[in-house]
Amino acid sequence: MSTSNLNDLSSFEPEAILAAVPGDHPRAAAVLVLGREASQTGHLDVAAISQIANELYSEGFPASSPFYVGAPSQSSVSSSLEASPLSLEVGSIPNVSSVAQPSAATSVPAYAGVASSGFETPVSLGQSTTKDLAAYKSIELDQLLGSIDIPYLTELNQALEDQSHAQPQVFSAASGQTPAAASVEKSTNTDHFYFLQSGDGGLDSKTLSAVAPDKSPAFDVDLVRKDFPILNELVNGRRLVWFDNAATTQKPQAVIDRLAYFYQHENSNIHRAAHELAARATDAYEHARETVRRFINAPSVDNVIFVRGTTEAINLVAKTWGKKHLGEGDEIVISHLEHHANIVPWQMLCQETGAKLKVAPVDDCGQIILSEYQKLLNSRVKLVSFTQVSNALGTVTPAKQMIEMAHANGSKVLLDGAQSVSHMRTDVQDLNPDFFVFSGHKVFAPTGIGALYGKPEVLADMPAWQGGGNMIQDVTFEKTVYHEAPNKFEAGTGNIADAVGLGAALEYVERIGIDNIARYEHELLVYATQVMSQVPGLTFIGNAKEKASVLSFKLDGFNSEEIGAALNQEGIAVRSGHHCAQPILRRFGVETTVRPSLAFYNTRGEVDLMVETLKRLVSNRAPSIH
Ligand SMILES: Cc1ncc(COP(=O)(O)O)c(C=O)c1O
Repeated sequence: MSTSNLNDLSSFEPEAILAAVPGDHPRAAAVLVLGREASQTGHLDVAAISQIANELYSEGFPASSPFYVGAPSQSSVSSSLEASPLSLEVGSIPNVSSVAQPSAATSVPAYAGVASSGFETPVSLGQSTTKDLAAYKSIELDQLLGSIDIPYLTELNQALEDQSHAQPQVFSAASGQTPAAASVEKSTNTDHFYFLQSGDGGLDSKTLSAVAPDKSPAFDVDLVRKDFPILNELVNGRRLVWFDNAATTQKPQAVIDRLAYFYQHENSNIHRAAHELAARATDAYEHARETVRRFINAPSVDNVIFVRGTTEAINLVAKTWGKKHLGEGDEIVISHLEHHANIVPWQMLCQETGAKLKVAPVDDCGQIILSEYQKLLNSRVKLVSFTQVSNALGTVTPAKQMIEMAHANGSKVLLDGAQSVSHMRTDVQDLNPDFFVFSGHKVFAPTGIGALYGKPEVLADMPAWQGGGNMIQDVTFEKTVYHEAPNKFEAGTGNIADAVGLGAALEYVERIGIDNIARYEHELLVYATQVMSQVPGLTFIGNAKEKASVLSFKLDGFNSEEIGAALNQEGIAVRSGHHCAQPILRRFGVETTVRPSLAFYNTRGEVDLMVETLKRLVSNRAPSIH
């Protein structure tokens, strides 16, 4: 096939052509777009075509293509791009310069069937300025893209005819979410949650769940940063440096676009209407639940309850399981590291039930003293609740060991994953807590959504919390029969769109690779610790051997707010205050600290900028101090 065969497509937008491709063959769509561009404009806009092709080809070129580069690379995406510079050799477009391509993570269509096909190294078709088509008249597109059967030609023509009566659909290049991707997926969609018929629209949870986290290529921070539009924001005339990740994380374009897509194409209440959008919304919501399940390795989606966030999850457990199982003289053990969200609900429960709250102490580095923790574990302890990572100090607690110790004592365990989910792999079957809780907004998802995981037998033993719609099987004025978990704990209309956004965020993290993230962040934390130590008068609060993300500190001669304000002048956002963890700060004799906290989109350059600012602050103040 050559470009000249495609003249009849010239009146269609490329996106409409993409959207109309009825088959499951993204390469066909790429050919059509390429052909349409070429034949309609007489110009080959290599930049635009590169972008489209990089999205469609994120799963790799077919082996027969001249651009096939083999099996997944463990090297970074950028180095793989450098190693295999690709130009449109046929017709020889000469220059392949390095371009702002969407990262590998972004370029994988977020809900396309292609995501399940396993990675080959993402490749760039390269970038050049617009080229005259004349030079490429002889391009054989199938040679360019591999031996391709274009399937469904008849259907395609039909679809294009229909399309001419319809509004062209829009897709965002940065999100990797194309209607074509959805349409590709529709054709393989056989396992819908509800009554959605195959091909009726909505997204395919079966295909989507097949994302293979372990096959993610290593990430390049410069590429990853392109996925977060807010990182281009100017604050006080400077490029934003977001070091307030422990408070909340920024959102990738894939999440932003997924929310927009939901409201544009799927919005409905869920579970209870016999119409198309109800089915799509239900599919999307339940797909997100499956994504959460996979992300934390829960045994079943029935173990995953959507809540507003960590705080609501802990309150739910306190007010249901806690109220049922705790009484006068019983004890709850927490640690000195806890966020107020893991203190106050237990205090309230103790007030209601007559139970007592006991606190496992930490050493001077901010590590839980396990021998003291062990001493607290006695037959009265019904529940242990502690954090996996301290938001104030960054301490990573020995969660698995502490859970084993609690279980050996016959106590149930709630593990607070608010600060750990975005930094390390979560495997609830390996860690083995009875409850695991986290907030979506700490892991690149929207605010107002999070999850409570509970072991099946523990959830089955829990009374309902809030009553209302969605959680019931049958209601009469005499009696109500509840659903089982998870619906039993999701009364009323939940945060449907943001649950879908949470699913998109976790899929994004899977594509980057949580182990890649952990490795990169650890190196950045070690680097930041070293260079910050060189700031005169700086003292870290919290020096645990195992730390994640957080660099709490005090600076002689300055209060925390002054430092926060000075950094803000440079566009650097850090938290200064008590971080909703007053007991642990007071343990170290302070009421507040300055708390930079890192995510995988932060860089050494940003750390250097913060350190320079701190040093300047100190040297400017020095004369008045001495
Ligand atoms: C360790 C820890 N637990 C619980 C919470 C509460 O999370 P949310 O406010 O999202 O409910 C936070 C928030 O910072 C936290 O860091």
